[in-house]
Amino acid sequence: MAELSRLNERFGIRDQLAFSKVPGGLVVVEIVNSLAAATVALQGAHLLNWIPRGEQPVIWLSRDARFIAGQSIRGGVPVCWPWFGPHSAHTAYPAHGFVRTVPWQVCETKMLEDGATFVAFRLLRTGATDVFWPHTSVLELGITVGATLELDLMTRNTGPESITIGDALHTYFAVSDVRHIAVEGLEGCPYIDKLDSDKRKQQSGPVTFKTETDRIYLGASADCLINDPGMQRRIRIGKRGSRSTVVWNPWIEKAVRMGDMGENGYLNMVCVESSNAADDVVTIAPGDEHHLWVSYQVESL
Ligand code: BG6
Repeated sequence: MAELSRLNERFGIRDQLAFSKVPGGLVVVEIVNSLAAATVALQGAHLLNWIPRGEQPVIWLSRDARFIAGQSIRGGVPVCWPWFGPHSAHTAYPAHGFVRTVPWQVCETKMLEDGATFVAFRLLRTGATDVFWPHTSVLELGITVGATLELDLMTRNTGPESITIGDALHTYFAVSDVRHIAVEGLEGCPYIDKLDSDKRKQQSGPVTFKTETDRIYLGASADCLINDPGMQRRIRIGKRGSRSTVVWNPWIEKAVRMGDMGENGYLNMVCVESSNAADDVVTIAPGDEHHLWVSYQVESL
């Protein structure tokens, strides 16, 4: 309770932003303004939902999501850093890096002139995180909650040598039925098919879903659209500082194996992850910073 009072005193914004605890004990920040509502867990700076006013939820969170300290949450926007997928050298290291399961610190909250709310988080460096990442760097995530959702993942190299990172905003988008949507913006892109021995292939036309799908699109810096006739909307994904896009749906068997997707949950989600993965990892010189920035918007169809 003392922790919540301290956070609310220091960073709370009356009638707009407050800290609370969810069952399971994780602390979350809840934001409600005239434009949208959102919830973010301090563990992982993990955005759990974003609902523009008058719209259906845009971000998918599993009905069976567990909110347990040290465990990743199924759905929302997991932050993957400083590697994407399995670690290239250490097979025992966690998939998608280590920052999604550790506490982050709130460093700023503010109301913006257009009615949106801004909250920024910084990764807390500890002895445990140093095991995975023995480099000096700063990692921050800025989240702007408005009619548009903006996420800005900033890596600053504060050490004496270059660092190389992979990163992803591993967003689970809510869709009416994944079998009837199409993802546009990746036409002609080469991709790694993780379900076919990492073979390199080329996308023709929009991406549609009839089975398990797990692909890393390379050199894919264009914006994407998720066309969802069932919800009569499309989600526009704008991005900067991202050269890869990962498209993923676990389909039936993998979803069952995962155990936290909820019954038939795979039908109502698709991950379109703005990232820098595989060939597209980013090298940051001492003193420099890299921003992986995205914006999400809903448009009527
Ligand atoms: C995707 C990967 O980004 O994340 C998949 O491409 C993976 O291979 C999925 O299964 C979920 O990963 P996790 O670690 O959250 O279960």
